[in-house]
Amino acid sequence: MNTYVTGNTIKQLREARGLTQTELAERIGVSSKTISKWETAKGLPDISLLQPLAQELGISVIELMNGEPIQNKNISANMLRGRFYVCPLCGNAVHSLGNAVVSCCGITLPPLEAEQTDDDHAITVETVEDEHFITVHHPMTKQHFISFVAFVTADRIQMVKLYPEGNAETRLQLRGIGQIYFYCNRHGLFRHKR
Ligand SMILES: [Fe+2]
Repeated sequence: MNTYVTGNTIKQLREARGLTQTELAERIGVSSKTISKWETAKGLPDISLLQPLAQELGISVIELMNGEPIQNKNISANMLRGRFYVCPLCGNAVHSLGNAVVSCCGITLPPLEAEQTDDDHAITVETVEDEHFITVHHPMTKQHFISFVAFVTADRIQMVKLYPEGNAETRLQLRGIGQIYFYCNRHGLFRHKR
């Protein structure tokens, strides 16, 4: 969160609740002049007032600081629209259902954009009964390797960690319509549509 509560937000919410400056002031124990100052950007409410202020304005503190009501979009989130984040220092990998601020080792990680597989990052899927053997045709050295393979469908994700000492292959259960992702530590995230 980069902002503190703004005067505009207070004013809009106060008016939407049908409260005068004096009424709101009385409810949270400040003067109407103080409210007026906040609303005209000549002062900011002390942090100890955020909770009572949010309560009187019928909103959560987070929403008050954000300046707008937050809808829980995860109710209808689809994992296919999820994002991968990878830490370039420690290799930590995170999958999020929606946009998130993810930081690791002190770095804020950008959501990764997946590229289509290419000649240097090709994949084969071999099906034996109900198992699927995934091979990424890629070197596995300590300097340059595939660090994970994942299969993402609308409602689930399977993620397999790979190690430079091992082979760039794994087994997945490819049930449903989804996409195979894998991550190369040098070239980034790749996607293979099934
Ligand atoms: Fe690579």
